[in-house]
Amino acid sequence: MIDPAKISGRLLQHPALQGVVVKSLIRNGTRQQVAEIQHDDDTAYLKCYLGTYAAQRHEAACARLRQAADIMSVENQVVRPLLELADCHTLIMSPAPGLPMRDACVTADTQRRLAIVRRAGEWLACLITAREQRPFFAWKWHQKLVEFASMFQSDETVDATLVGQHLVHMEQVTRRLHVRKVCHGVSHGDFHSENIFVAEDGDRLILTGIDMETAEPIPVVKDLARMLVWLQIDAEPGSDRVSGINRPLFNSLCAPHGPVAAADRLALHFHIGEMLLEFYLRRGARVPEIRRKMSLAIEHWMSSCAAILRDCQGVD
Ligand SMILES: Nc1ncnc2c1ncn2[C@@H]1O[C@H](COP(=O)(O)OP(=O)(O)OP(=O)(O)O)[C@@H](O)[C@H]1O
Ligand SMILES: [Mg+2]
Repeated sequence: MIDPAKISGRLLQHPALQGVVVKSLIRNGTRQQVAEIQHDDDTAYLKCYLGTYAAQRHEAACARLRQAADIMSVENQVVRPLLELADCHTLIMSPAPGLPMRDACVTADTQRRLAIVRRAGEWLACLITAREQRPFFAWKWHQKLVEFASMFQSDETVDATLVGQHLVHMEQVTRRLHVRKVCHGVSHGDFHSENIFVAEDGDRLILTGIDMETAEPIPVVKDLARMLVWLQIDAEPGSDRVSGINRPLFNSLCAPHGPVAAADRLALHFHIGEMLLEFYLRRGARVPEIRRKMSLAIEHWMSSCAAILRDCQGVD
């Protein structure tokens, strides 16, 4: 556990934080500190934004949580901001009830897991109130991915042939996709299974989102792709897959978003490919099991490229 004393003493001397007790420090990064605290006799969470854009990120996170709270329904929730301290870029928020979706999925049986995944798809669909078609700047993402991959060039544990082949396929998809119109919406921005909490209320599953900053429209498929790749990390490897992701997971998350247009399907494939490689390289460097799982998913992703490209030909 991170030493709670690492939270800045100056922050805790803030007049609005008198009496706050830090129970545990969950993140102690260069961009943010996150702590579970005791506030007004209740458990709450403190997030202190750090670094160059701390002020803007704090403001964006507070605004986004307030905005999302107005949109969400009974079963689809976001945490409530309790205190917004602009002068120290700190947000105190209510605790999300239940368990992180990742933990809830790991302990659930298959049927229950798919029900949770489907609810996560519904949660996202509920959050995105306005959708619009915007051009997808595939080369921009592609360039970033190539630069990212080049940082691992001297890592001998990386299968350079696999990465090289994957980037060739990514380039083919990029050529076909660039500036095609795809569905954009103000989404979560970091939609993954540790940023959504699941609580049971009788037969109902209440989902609560945390960790939101994005207020700009992004491709909706980017958030879907991120969640799918996170879910794939914990999934049993199977052969029935879609874009490298186990088909039941893929279908359960995407179903609440209705029929997917051809360009969106290709953009979803693109972002899944991007995130599979990111996970293979970065997280896989720390956890060999992730590398193994991601390389199987990448192999499948590559083998499904031709069919997806064919389906998208000339269709908008
Ligand atoms: N309001 C909350 N209720 C319950 N748990 C919370 C809350 N806020 C934060 N946490 C816990 O703290 C963890 C880190 O918080 P948060 O996701 O905001 O930080 P982060 O550094 O942006 O995380 P990451 O980059 O890993 O997504 C969460 O994964 C969650 O376990
Ligand atoms: Mg998070």
